[in-house]
Order: sequence, then C-alpha cells, then structure tokens
Amino acid sequence: MLRHSPVEILPQEAFLFTRISAPFLGRTIHTLSGPEELKAVLADDPDAWRKSPLIQRILRPILGNAILTAHGDWWKIQRKAMQPGFVRLRIQALIPDMSASAEAAADSLLQADGPVDVTPALNHAALSVIEAALFTRPDNFDRAKIRAAIESVFEETGRTRFSDLLPLPESAPRILGPKALNARKILRDAVAAEIARRRGGETRDDLLQLLLEAQAEDGRFLSDIDVRDNVLSLVIAGHETTAIAIGWALYILARRPDWQDRVRDEVMSIAGDHPLEAHHLPQLVFARQIIHETLRLYPPAPLIGRQAIRNTQICEREVKKGDVALLAFYALHRHHRYWPEPDVFDPERFSLDNRPSDPWQFKPFGGGPRACIGSGFALTEAVIILSSLVRRCRFSVPDGYEPYPVMTVTLRPEGGLPLNVEKR
Ligand code: HEM
Repeated sequence: MLRHSPVEILPQEAFLFTRISAPFLGRTIHTLSGPEELKAVLADDPDAWRKSPLIQRILRPILGNAILTAHGDWWKIQRKAMQPGFVRLRIQALIPDMSASAEAAADSLLQADGPVDVTPALNHAALSVIEAALFTRPDNFDRAKIRAAIESVFEETGRTRFSDLLPLPESAPRILGPKALNARKILRDAVAAEIARRRGGETRDDLLQLLLEAQAEDGRFLSDIDVRDNVLSLVIAGHETTAIAIGWALYILARRPDWQDRVRDEVMSIAGDHPLEAHHLPQLVFARQIIHETLRLYPPAPLIGRQAIRNTQICEREVKKGDVALLAFYALHRHHRYWPEPDVFDPERFSLDNRPSDPWQFKPFGGGPRACIGSGFALTEAVIILSSLVRRCRFSVPDGYEPYPVMTVTLRPEGGLPLNVEKR
C-alpha cells in the first residue's frame, strides 16, 4: 500500500524552498511548495498540464472518463453540467440533511463504551449528505454496502504495483482484481438503479436530475454511463475527504478542551438545542476557523500530480514536455517562509484580521479551472457537522494516543482515529 506519511515522502527542503527539481527515469520531477509555483501550474498555464498518467490509469477503470479524469472539451461539458448543483443556495438547502446526519453520527458515537474510532461514523454521515445532494431521498441505497465497496476500491487503488514505477501512458489502464471488480459492480448497479427510476418518469430537484437533463452546446446529452460515472466521481471525491477533515478537527478539539468549549458555546449561543439552519452558518465563525486551520495542517488531498504535455515554464524556468509536477499542498501549508511556527495549530491564523493575504498560500481545494467543485459544499458540511457533534458530545484523547497521518488516497490517521466520547 502507498502507506507513508507525507513527512517521509516529501524531502525536508520542500518545507524550506519552493521548488525542487530532480531527474527520474529520463524526465524531471518538480516538487513544488510555493504559492507562485502552484499558481504557475494550476492557473497561469493550465492547458500545458494534464493530471498525472498514473492517477488516470488508476481512476479510469473505476470512474471512466468523467469529471475527475476527463480533459479538454469533454471535461468542460461535464463540469458545466454539474456547476449549478454547487451554487450557494443549493448547498444551503442541504443544511437540514447535514444537521440530521451529524445527529445520527452523535447517536452512534455515544453508544460506545470506551474509546471509539470516529472515522466510520463520520464517513457514514458524509456519505448520507452526498447521497441527499445526488438523489434527494436515497430510498434504496444500502449505505453500509456502498461504504464497504468504496473501501475495497480504495484498498486496491492504494496498493503500489511494479508497473506503477514504469512511465506507462494513461491509455494503459490498470487491470482491476476480482475484489475491486466486484466492488465496482456494486457501486455501478446502485447508481444505475437510481438512473433507471428517473428514466421511468420520476423527477426530483437534485444533482442526478441536473446531470440527466444537462445539454451541451452541441445539443448532446450525457449518456446513462456518463451520468453514472459522474455520480460515482462525486460520491468518491465528495465524502471521505470531508469526513477526514472533520475527524482531524475533532482530534484537535479533543486535545484542546478550551477550544472545544468555545465551539460549543458559539453554537449554543446561536441555535441553542435547535437543529442548525442556513441562517446560522455565517455566525459559526470559530468553528470555521478550526476547519480552515485543520485543512492547513491536515489537507485531505496533500499532494497532487500533473504532467507537462508541451514545453512550458514554472516561474520563468523552463519545463520540458513530459516533466512531472508534484504539487505539495502539505508542504505549502507548513512552509517555513509563509507560516510562523508552521507546525503549530492556531485557529487565530484564520480570524477575520489574520487571514493569509495571498490566497495561493492556502489551497486545500487546489486552484485554477480544475479546483475542487465541492469546496463550498465541503466547508459548509464540515462546519455544520463539527458544531453539531461538539454541541452533543465531549471528545477527549485516549491516554498515550498519538495519530500518525498516512497518505493512502487521502491523508488519513493510520489505523483510524480513536477518541473518548461522552454525552454533554
Ligand atoms: C474537505 C473536503 C475536500 C477536499 C480537501 C477536496 C480537495 C480537492 C482537490 C485538491 C481537488 C483538485 C484535484 C486536482 O486538481 O487534481 C478536488 C477536485 C474535485 N473535488 Fe474535491 N475536495 C473536497 C470535497 C469535495 C466535495 C464535497 C465534492 C463534491 C460534493 C468534491 C468534488 C470534487 C470534484 C468533482 C473534483 C474534480 C473537479 C474537476 O476536475 O473539475 N470535493 N478536490
């Protein structure tokens, strides 16, 4: 498995310098960790770069040629089709679902006697939110089965193979093993059943409906397979990332009871015991600072890759076609040049007066045209779920526990995240 801490993978220089270039199998790998360098690749000349062939080879057998993996016009059509689903009003309409899934997570966590790994309950909560966004009422969705299937797919995609070290083109997809093939079938069948129901005449006001009705400028509609692969892309990109961010935030609050009380006081003063609603969101200021600072120190996507498809430049330095850029958000966010005491968690860095003046200094959601489409969704969800959980539960760290962040597909605490959870 690709189980390494980013600290082990990234050279120490990445936290001191902004670009390290080294030859590897006939090409150059540029590890980038400065705001200017990341902007150069993601926003200044994005058409010179493609997502790395390895990621394409890994994701395509599962997600097809949908929003996460497509390029050029086909990517644009798909992005445009789902964009209306991510406007602020749509996200706010999901706040009751976010609140309800947080309450269900609290119920399940409070049943535990002794330390409990909080990650399954958080994954479950985030999965139910993305389901609500996609399907409104996912009547026939077996969440436990879906989570198990995603876990199997992740397990297989995270395992390094000898062929991964070879510079194979993205047109040579990885062959899936029987476990992943079975998991893929479970995921595809579940989504296909929802699509069939809509094709049978049922309409709803949700992301699936948007995808089914989206028409490109040339008059084309997305096929059922395109819709299915985009739905799966959203399920996969959109729940574990957010769940992990909430998990890390809970861990920080478990270590700092004073901040935990401040988050609780904030939510109690705004909403008392009532479910959180859209109008509460702007007032959950400290909870948002906690989430931002968590995303700085534990970015769920710590590292992404790009490959140059033509000669280009990074900050006036030549880059050759075929070169690889590793965009190290993890190192950008802990860079000694940009953050005083970079490894110290301090929510005041994101208070109204202190926010980083350069937006490229903090990029947990990537940047440029391929930036995360769900960033507003994820932030809203994380703030609502964190506030709701802390209102009902008191979290503390089991004696002697120290999490170790490892990169699988996302930046997870190795072996889960056990916390003590008590009723408030
Ligand atoms: C804390 C939570 C999240 C983090 C840290 C995160 C991070 C990212 C990053 C770094 C990228 C850019 C990848 C690249 O350029 O190679 C990305 C892309 C994407 N994310 Fe997120 N994400 C989160 C939540 C979500 C949610 C909630 C959704 C959907 C509901 C979502 C859907 C997507 C999609 C579809 C893309 C591909 C966009 C494109 O290529 O046009 N993400 N995400």
